[in-house]
Amino acid sequence: MTADALLDTAGRGFRAAFGRAPTVDAAAPGRVNLLGAHVDYNDGFVLPVAIDRRIVAIGAPREDARVRLRSANLAGEVAFDLDALERTGDWGDVPKGIVWAHRDRGVTLGGFDAYFAGDVPVGGGVSSSAAMDVVTAALLQRLFGFTLPGPEVALLGQRAENEFVGVRCGIMDQFVSALGRRGHLLYLDCRSLAYEHVPLDLEAYRVVLFQSGVQRGLAGSGYNDRRAACERGVELLRGRYPDIVALRDVTPEMLEEAKLLLPDVVYKRCYHVVHEIARVQAGVAALRRGALQEFGEMMYASHAGSRDWYEVSVPELDVLVAAAQAAPGALGARVTGAGFGGCTVNLVEAARADACIAHVQKAFAARFGRTPEALVCRSADGAFAHAA
Ligand code: GLA
Repeated sequence: MTADALLDTAGRGFRAAFGRAPTVDAAAPGRVNLLGAHVDYNDGFVLPVAIDRRIVAIGAPREDARVRLRSANLAGEVAFDLDALERTGDWGDVPKGIVWAHRDRGVTLGGFDAYFAGDVPVGGGVSSSAAMDVVTAALLQRLFGFTLPGPEVALLGQRAENEFVGVRCGIMDQFVSALGRRGHLLYLDCRSLAYEHVPLDLEAYRVVLFQSGVQRGLAGSGYNDRRAACERGVELLRGRYPDIVALRDVTPEMLEEAKLLLPDVVYKRCYHVVHEIARVQAGVAALRRGALQEFGEMMYASHAGSRDWYEVSVPELDVLVAAAQAAPGALGARVTGAGFGGCTVNLVEAARADACIAHVQKAFAARFGRTPEALVCRSADGAFAHAA
């Protein structure tokens, strides 16, 4: 759907739900990460792209301190007072968390009504919740006439997820939803938050997603277990390297030298992370040389790391990646997002995208008896890509 079609839907929804005209609107995209799996919370580097799937929000301020939220995609009205922000375990927790984070930072907000509409698949591994974080933050700025820079919006979004919603995500998703740029990947240093837009010719290549049909949210224990194993790894490695702060500070060679300090599972998790961080740096260098074939090989290697060392893949994702490896026109494929389900991201020659999709769908159907949905994405601007 186009942004305009979504805004139309949201505008009609707003009028029907609240019986008045909206005054402001905002939009924020979903994302896929081409390289850099589970390294953002280890102070590493990531390489995501904002995609042309988004959430829009339409709103109008109120005279009182009440907030009412509706969505075209999610059932029920969420209503609360600004002074009584509590988690209720429904979809409203994400926007409510954003309201909470702004107030906690000292931003003065009033009550408002808002209506959301989107075409980011929920639970599909393309970060609908980061799009919700960022669109809500953008809407608040328009409703109440203040501005915050994109990086700060991303940090507020992460804080809302971590401390209000209770999801210990890293900074990647909110950052690219805020600051991605059309025609580019976002190369982000998750320690300093320095970033660069690296051009990717999405006329000649396509980013194709295959939905595994397996859903498992971040609130599940797998994500937090992985984070805890990384933290334990840093603690133990400090026995040998007292100055390290995060796995970002550990090279593959340092890890090998200190291997005996680590329990097996912790070593495996650290192995993936330190190699993946090195891979992202090499991947950016390959992209800059125009060596897309080489970049694609790194995506396959990243998938193998996620599968064998980090253990966040599932058989459906492995079959999708193996099928891509044998498909016409595919340069690389890997699990994206947290894993445990969701989708694979594939870099595919535009001219052979149809043949590639047909090949992968057929191979998956032969194994699992159903056809996985394919989404052909274009890159998009983040919500704050053009903010001053
Ligand atoms: C989820 C989190 C991100 C990141 C990825 C894994 O998408 O929200 O912060 O950790 O998983 O790379």
